[in-house]
Order: sequence, then structure tokens, then C-alpha cells
Amino acid sequence: MNSAPAAVIERAGVPNLDCDPFSDKFLENPYPYHDQIREAGPLVWLSRYGIWATARHDEASEVLKDYKRFCSSAGVGIANFKTEKPFCPPSLLIEADPPEHTRARNVMGHALSQKNISALQEKFEADAVAIIDAALEKGDIDGMDDIAIAYPIKVFPDVVGLGSEGRENLLIYGNQIFNIFGPPNRLFKGALEKIPNASAWVTEHCKRDVLAQGSIGQIIYEGAEAGDVSPDEAGLLVRSLLSAGVDTTVSGIGNMLNLFAQNPDQWALLRSDPSLINFAFEEAIRVEGPVQTFFRTSAMATELSGVPVGDNEKLVLFLGGANRDPRRWDDPDRFDIARKPSGHLAWGNGVHRCVGMRITQMEAEAILKAMLARIELIEPTGPAKIRLNNTLRVLDSLPLRLTGV
Ligand code: HEM
Repeated sequence: MNSAPAAVIERAGVPNLDCDPFSDKFLENPYPYHDQIREAGPLVWLSRYGIWATARHDEASEVLKDYKRFCSSAGVGIANFKTEKPFCPPSLLIEADPPEHTRARNVMGHALSQKNISALQEKFEADAVAIIDAALEKGDIDGMDDIAIAYPIKVFPDVVGLGSEGRENLLIYGNQIFNIFGPPNRLFKGALEKIPNASAWVTEHCKRDVLAQGSIGQIIYEGAEAGDVSPDEAGLLVRSLLSAGVDTTVSGIGNMLNLFAQNPDQWALLRSDPSLINFAFEEAIRVEGPVQTFFRTSAMATELSGVPVGDNEKLVLFLGGANRDPRRWDDPDRFDIARKPSGHLAWGNGVHRCVGMRITQMEAEAILKAMLARIELIEPTGPAKIRLNNTLRVLDSLPLRLTGV
């Protein structure tokens, strides 16, 4: 269980900051705080929680790439599994280090290989057309309910092999799993109340006999038959897909729609040059990353950019802050689909880099392709409302008007 925020713990000789990255104010608009953390130093000490933090690109990237110095097996949220009991059985992927991680990653990597997922392209595009046609017919929409949720909740569980009933449990489950990476604040406590039912539903729907033939879920179980993982572990891997694959994509598509609504020049640019389609989603998740934070734990006494780090200390990596580091990008707060945002950390980096990245990119590209052919204007009709989450940056509602070509 996560520990309560400790009384203020100072660390001598390094920049100490008292900000709370899990307060409502920070989560509503993290960017001014990221600037403050980034400019205070390459690595700063957050005295309220007694943890390290970085919002710089190079430092966050170095930590992500070096699993020997900065491990994931002690948890990728604020809880330290070496001293605290994890709330759920740890993931075989995201909460494991090589060599155990490598075994599970190979099974997942095979299930999500280009060969297996390229066959999905046609289905993704047909589903995107249906969703965009329905939204356009309404004209005034909620970009979240009508597109950003409607699309992934249709295509992704189809891919994993789930039936059509009860899919709302995936949204509840995904949202709460990402709250549990944070400290025991209001959002964490709300998650503890909501998660048991959704979690029971998800566990039931990870079983082999309920997954459709030929689905990605079944391919993971075939990996178990080949002896790479046990059948129980295969169930946990399917659970990892369902925890990580829905809310993240909902957030990414919603944030992208909002950015286009706020920046009509960028929608006009994409319409005039559809070859930018591949960069548009990448740039959107650079500027408004779905996953704002992940943690690592030092596996030895070490240093980062000259700052000494003790053994078994937690570090929070502000991925959203690193992606706006002016040391790495010109005019970093600007949404500019003509820039090549390669090297951004929205997918992570190193051995844990998002294994579902290509599926999300295919979903986003299918939505954009359907929109480009049908929509001339995307206009906000009211303020977007954020849904606070300890890890994700995700909208709750996004009032938009779509005008057809
Ligand atoms: C916009 C959508 C997404 C974003 C921004 C995102 C982001 C991330 C990030 C930052 C990591 C690295 C975690 C770490 O280093 O500790 C990660 C890992 C992971 N993602 Fe995604 N993800 C997205 C979509 C997906 C989808 C659709 C799936 C499933 C098909 C998925 C499955 C996973 C899994 C299983 C891992 C753990 C990989 C490992 O530890 O080897 N993600 N994701």
C-alpha cells in the first residue's frame, strides 16, 4: 500500500522544492510547475514526498534507458515495492526488470508484431469512418464521448478478443490503475473504491475461453503453449494490455482533437498536406502527453548529471515536462505538426518503451484519415474540462462543432 506523504524531508546540497505534483492545482495545469522544476536543476528533491524529480529531457531519457541503475521492479508509481506491499500483483512487464522482463516482453512483442497488427488496418479504417460519419451527422459533439472514447472502446477490445458487453469496465479500470500509481490522495482513495468490481470483470475477461479465436489475446495464450510463459502469466499479460491500452489512447486522441480545435491553422495545414498525418499525432502527444509521469527506483548508489543519488531512492520522471524542455525543442509549448518530434518521451524509452505504440498510432492515423476526408472545420463550442488523474492527462469533456467539407 502506498505510504502517506511524509513530513517534509529536506536533502542538503541540492535544490529542494515543496510542490505537490499530485495536487489538483498541479494536475490541472502542470506546465508552469514543470518549468519551475526543470529550471531548478537537472535533478531536484521534492521534500514533501522525499523523492527525486526531473523535468529535463536528457536526464529523463538517461534514467529510462538505464534499467541497471534505475529499476522498474520496485514499482513505476510512488510506492516502493521493496518496502511496501503492491496493491495489485505486479505486472510482468512494466513492473519487472530484465531478464524476467525480457521473457514476457518477447511474448507480447510477438503478439503485437507488425505482421499480426498490419492485418488490422482495414478494420481500423472502416471503424474510424463509421465513428466520424456519426459525429459529423450530429455536428455539435462531445469530442471525448463521440470520438476519443467511442473509437478505442470499439476497436481495441475487438483486437484483444473481448465480447461487446461491459466494455465500460475497461475505462473505469484503466483510469483507476493510473490513479493508483500516485500517493494516497483523494484520487487514489476514489480508485480503491471503484476498482474491485472493474478489476473482477477484467480478470474474468482475460481468460482464454472468453477471448475470440485469432485475437491478440489468443496469440498471447499460444505463447504460453510454446512454453515461454505459464498460462497464469499469459492471463496477466492480457490484463496488462487491457490496463494500458484503452485510457491512454482515449487521452491521446482527445488531446489531439483539442489541440486541432485550439490551433485551426494546424488543421488547415494538415488538410493542405496530408503527408504530415504521421507527425500530427506524435506532435500532439509530445505537447499534451497522455502519460505524464512514471517512476523509477535507484538500484545502487549512483549519480545523475553530477547529483548524487542514494541506493533505493524513488525518482519521478515528468515525461510531459521533458517533452517541453527548451534544451531539446525550439518553442516547445507550440503545437507544430510540421516539426519532427522524434525523440519525445511520450512512449517512454529503453526496454520498457511502449509495446502498444504501433496500435495506437494506427488508431490515431485512421481517425485522422477519416476526418481529413470529411471535416473542414473543428471549432470549440465551450471550454474543455479535464478529468484529474494521478498519472494521465485526459479530458472529461470536449465540446466541439464539426463542419463537413
Ligand atoms: C497514446 C497511447 C499510449 C501511451 C502514451 C503509452 C505510453 C506508455 C509509456 C510511457 C510506457 C513506458 C512505461 C515505463 O517506461 O515504465 C508504456 C509501456 C507500455 N505500454 Fe503503452 N502507451 C499507450 C498505448 C498503449 C497501448 C494501446 C497498449 C496495448 C496495446 C500499451 C501497452 C503498454 C505496455 C504493455 C507497456 C509496458 C511495456 C514494458 O514494460 O515492456 N500502451 N506505454
